[in-house]
Amino acid sequence: MANAKPHLPEFSAPEGGQLNAEMCSAFKEAGVIILRGFVGRDACKALQSRTSELVDAFDPESVRSIFSSKSNVQLGDDYFIRSGGDIGFFFEEDAFDAAGDLKHDKRHSINKMGHAMHDIDPLFGEFSRTPELAAIAASLGVAEPLLVQSMYIFKPPRIGGEVVCHQDSTYLYTEPESCIGFWFAIDDADEENGCMQFVPGGHKAPLRRLNYRTEEGALVTDVIDDAPLDDHLAISAPAACGDLVIFHGRAPHMSAPNRSARPRHAYTVHIVDGAAQWPTQNWLQRPADLPFRGF
Ligand code: FE2
Repeated sequence: MANAKPHLPEFSAPEGGQLNAEMCSAFKEAGVIILRGFVGRDACKALQSRTSELVDAFDPESVRSIFSSKSNVQLGDDYFIRSGGDIGFFFEEDAFDAAGDLKHDKRHSINKMGHAMHDIDPLFGEFSRTPELAAIAASLGVAEPLLVQSMYIFKPPRIGGEVVCHQDSTYLYTEPESCIGFWFAIDDADEENGCMQFVPGGHKAPLRRLNYRTEEGALVTDVIDDAPLDDHLAISAPAACGDLVIFHGRAPHMSAPNRSARPRHAYTVHIVDGAAQWPTQNWLQRPADLPFRGF
């Protein structure tokens, strides 16, 4: 077929999660693969319902933390840092009017919820710790997988913000680097509502930025390699509810704003290899009674 739109490697979800040689080599080459139909629609809808309950129980007056990948205004915010071992809610930049009041209902104003649902909420724990995900981690050679972070991303209709091109190892850094992201489509995601986009092969180049906590407790992001991320080469990763996108911690990725009338809910879990070192300078640190755990 002439002029076929470039696409990322995709496969039907393998039985039991174990990736075959073709899937592993596609991941190695592109730094990202899509597994169609990895989880059932019912499981996605159950996660969505549980999220609604958590949002209902959240009092937006208690905190007004805004998440923005552009200005990084959340960095250094205590509420944000504590969310590494808790469940925090972060608003869209455009959620408030000039008087500082929410323009829309809170459930259509939140950018994301994070970052420890998988260790705190039983239903999130069940969704995140499946034998199939453990099998993927093993297929990719992760000796001692640890689930370090979970995020439920809302990308609400009309105000869902852009996420600029970045690499997740910037924020979930280990020595040596070992971060792998699992991105689950909870709603159908396409170019209209801001699906994920990846630069295939971009994970082979170095990490560009490193985020860390200074001795004074400030969070800073240093440029460690000033080569561009080549976001103009990004390819869309449209996904249907239940599809799983697996991506390398260095894979450059981004998403456009959601200007559509549809939400674009997604859930992400990140793992690292427990055999690697987790620096004390990483923003995400767990309280002693909530250590990182595996599958
Ligand atoms: Fe990311």
